Amino acid sequence: MNKEVFMKNRKKFAETMTDNSVAILFAGNDINKSEDENYRFWINNNFFYMTGIDEHGIILAVTKKNNQVKEYLFINDYSEQYQLWNGRQMTDVIAKEISGIEEVKYLSGYERFIANLFTAPLYDTLYLDLSKTFEMSAIDPAFKLMNKVRERYPYIQFKNCYQQICSQRYIKCDEEIEEIKKAISITKGGLERIMSNLKPGVNEYEMDAEFDYAIHKQGSTEKAFETIAAMGKNACTMHYGFNDTVIEDNKLVLFDLGAKHHHYCSDISRTFPANGKFTEQQKQIYNIVLEANKRGIAQAKPGMTNRQVDNEIIVPYFAQELKKMGLIKEDSEVRKYYPHSVSHPMGLDCHDVGRDPETGACPFVVGSIHTIEPGLYIPEYEIGVRIEDDILITEDGCINLSKDIIKEVDDIEKFMAEHKAN
Ligand code: GLY
Ligand code: MN
Ligand code: MN
Repeated sequence: MNKEVFMKNRKKFAETMTDNSVAILFAGNDINKSEDENYRFWINNNFFYMTGIDEHGIILAVTKKNNQVKEYLFINDYSEQYQLWNGRQMTDVIAKEISGIEEVKYLSGYERFIANLFTAPLYDTLYLDLSKTFEMSAIDPAFKLMNKVRERYPYIQFKNCYQQICSQRYIKCDEEIEEIKKAISITKGGLERIMSNLKPGVNEYEMDAEFDYAIHKQGSTEKAFETIAAMGKNACTMHYGFNDTVIEDNKLVLFDLGAKHHHYCSDISRTFPANGKFTEQQKQIYNIVLEANKRGIAQAKPGMTNRQVDNEIIVPYFAQELKKMGLIKEDSEVRKYYPHSVSHPMGLDCHDVGRDPETGACPFVVGSIHTIEPGLYIPEYEIGVRIEDDILITEDGCINLSKDIIKEVDDIEKFMAEHKAN
């Protein structure tokens, strides 16, 4: 994505800052896994949204004085040892190119910068992204800075800018939508590779691996979340993650997966028959979920919330069908077979930010992207079906961004018959 996007994000954010204030955001730090190994670094997404930069340790500072906004980026000091063992580091030229920030400094000058900011009575407010839970606060750099500033400069007041950044992130710009479309199209390729290789006798983890292979081949370097590849009854565990069961004949296999592209997620679920052909019972349940998926997409429009679609469209429909099948007697029992909700926002995070802080609901607003993902999980039949698409809310409804990923019974059976790998 080009730097203008990040410059625009910062400009919009800075407009919300009061005069005589400073905002400081952190990329985050490496987290130790065991002994001398760290977890793979995961950038703070609010920091990424403001800078486009993905490297541990880096700090963004925005100051506003007499309504003049200045931006500074502090990058890791050049270290020969670091480069010898870990490889590339951000340079000032590249940092400037990615973020559009002119003033790029080294972290060795950061402490002095902070002292200069707050010693003279130039600023009265510090904005920090205090999004972490209390338990996390001991290692979170924003909390650490807050404690330090509180101790040394007690006249500074703090404001949490988490919600402001989240509400900006909720509405996607054209460039972000393009990244998400690309992530979805890569996921489509991954699901097609799965369909080609799926057969009784293979293990769930082989399908997981086929997906990884396909998305890397298409230019995605990472997944939005750990793949769920769940055969038969395994699919009735919502967050099944073992992916280690041999796939049996005449079973359905639920896949919930998504590639990322340039940090932006996709989140798709499809359910396929192991041997390429649905049984009558599987088809019946599959088509109920498919109908719910279509009804959800048809009702996703400005003015509605995810909760309304769930409570007013999906739950009554599932209750009606489950009663017809004799699985439940009362509407209130529906959650026994449909325990999750139908939708969440998606973006830099798979379960993206932007929930209404008052109600917890996610309003469908033009430019926001959500999943629609009804599912039925019936352990008695060893069947779990989820069909999940990613939609963009528009003025008069929504666009299904994943409409090209097949989901009709006939299309899946035809594809699997015609594209057998071996
Ligand atoms: N993949 C997680 C979800 O569908 O919400
Ligand atoms: Mn989802
Ligand atoms: Mn999903």
